[in-house]
Amino acid sequence: MSQTASAPQTATFIDTLTEKISAKTARVGIVGLGYVGLPLAVEFAKAGFSVTGIDLVESKVERINAGDSYVQDVAGQEVAALVDAGQIRATTDFSVIRELDTINICVPTPLRKTKDPDMSYIVSACQEIAKYFHPGMLAILESTTYPGTTEEVVLPMLATSGLEVGRDFFLCFSPERVDPGNPKFQTRNIPKVVGGVTPACTKAGMLFYGQALEHVIPVSSTRVAEMVKLLENTFRMINIGLVNEMAIMSDRMGINIWEVIDAAATKPFGFMPFYPGPGLGGHCIPIDPFYLSWKTRQAGIEARFIELAGYINGQMPHFVVEKIQSALNDCGKPLKNSHVHIMGVAYKRDIDDVRESPALDIIHLLKRRGATVTYSDPYVPSIRVEDEHLFAADEMASVGAADCAVVVTDHSSTDYEKLAGAAKLIVDTRNALRGIDSEKIIRL
Ligand SMILES: NC(=O)c1ccc[n+]([C@@H]2O[C@H](COP(=O)([O-])OP(=O)(O)OC[C@H]3O[C@@H](n4cnc5c(N)ncnc54)[C@H](O)[C@@H]3O)[C@@H](O)[C@H]2O)c1
Repeated sequence: MSQTASAPQTATFIDTLTEKISAKTARVGIVGLGYVGLPLAVEFAKAGFSVTGIDLVESKVERINAGDSYVQDVAGQEVAALVDAGQIRATTDFSVIRELDTINICVPTPLRKTKDPDMSYIVSACQEIAKYFHPGMLAILESTTYPGTTEEVVLPMLATSGLEVGRDFFLCFSPERVDPGNPKFQTRNIPKVVGGVTPACTKAGMLFYGQALEHVIPVSSTRVAEMVKLLENTFRMINIGLVNEMAIMSDRMGINIWEVIDAAATKPFGFMPFYPGPGLGGHCIPIDPFYLSWKTRQAGIEARFIELAGYINGQMPHFVVEKIQSALNDCGKPLKNSHVHIMGVAYKRDIDDVRESPALDIIHLLKRRGATVTYSDPYVPSIRVEDEHLFAADEMASVGAADCAVVVTDHSSTDYEKLAGAAKLIVDTRNALRGIDSEKIIRL
């Protein structure tokens, strides 16, 4: 997309938008009120903007309007205070966009079964937005996606009716970097990267985020901004793949990988610790790199690091099940008909999200081998594995009763020392039992 030269009309729309954003009279819209969209809506409302959230799910909209939160990092009282003050409201009706000045798109970007990007949520959100989109608006895509999406998919859908980007409306990509459960870094203090289709778009995007967030980092294009997110998450996925492979090698050689990592991390430069685990989980790290490999495949480049790390990380639930099986064998108990208790099913510590969680794969594999499986998790009251619903059991009682307990997610509220005392056998995939010396503990 060529950069638009300034023209008399440019001054009109950008000036009006600039004025409204600076005065915080711009009416802000957020499409998709999930883990990303709801915290963002709350930040802009707290900064003094009038915010309208749009979601397809009626129950989410009702809960927000009733002053409630369903996202762990957003306190219900905070939403209630903002709703009472008239700063935030939610709706399923996209026609409110007629009255809005800005719109952030925070809808899911999953993978299809074939590991190809599923763009259907972005496309259907943009179809609805386009019906009510009007001159002078700023639109920002935040959903993680492949480089080129903003200009190849979103722009043509919004530039209907002859509207010109950079003059009649403004379009940016800004990757969301929220880290659920992180007490130190949240939406407000995580630096926000933003790249516009034109310089006027970037300027509008920077001004907008600068009103509510602490640091805004401009980049030269939407493609750069899209690639930033994929670099960050691919970096994590590949380093986790590397350390998982090191864990498998160390296991074979009788070396404690956790001790190796701790010692390596004493190097004050050139090393950053990553830790092995039962497999990748969540809506980002297992998925985002495949957006990149799909796109590069079209350009004839195989993303070999991504494919290899994806394979190794995907093997980890199998490796954990092998460890459980051999630990039970060593105690003279076959896995078939043994009771295995899984501690923690969320994809990471201290959160309630089970999307892509390796615990689900581990439970499935154990059941397939004939084990009786129970689970406990202070954040997750029930889960669905294949076609079966499981409900969280009492942790202490189940650990005591099970033939083998397995730490899959190391929630910090759990008293591991006490559980280690009660268990007959524990497989620890997170080093949650560090410092506890016992023959019944089998570490990854
Ligand atoms: N969760 C994270 O930690 C995280 C971190 C960084 C980036 N991201 C990215 O942000 C995006 C959103 O992720 P999330 O975790 O918030 O997802 P989510 O599933 O929690 O929330 C998405 C919301 O969008 C709604 N929605 C779906 N289609 C819609 C439509 N057409 N119109 C209106 N609403 C619609 C859903 O009902 C849901 O409430 C994804 O691209 C994800 O990869 C997520």
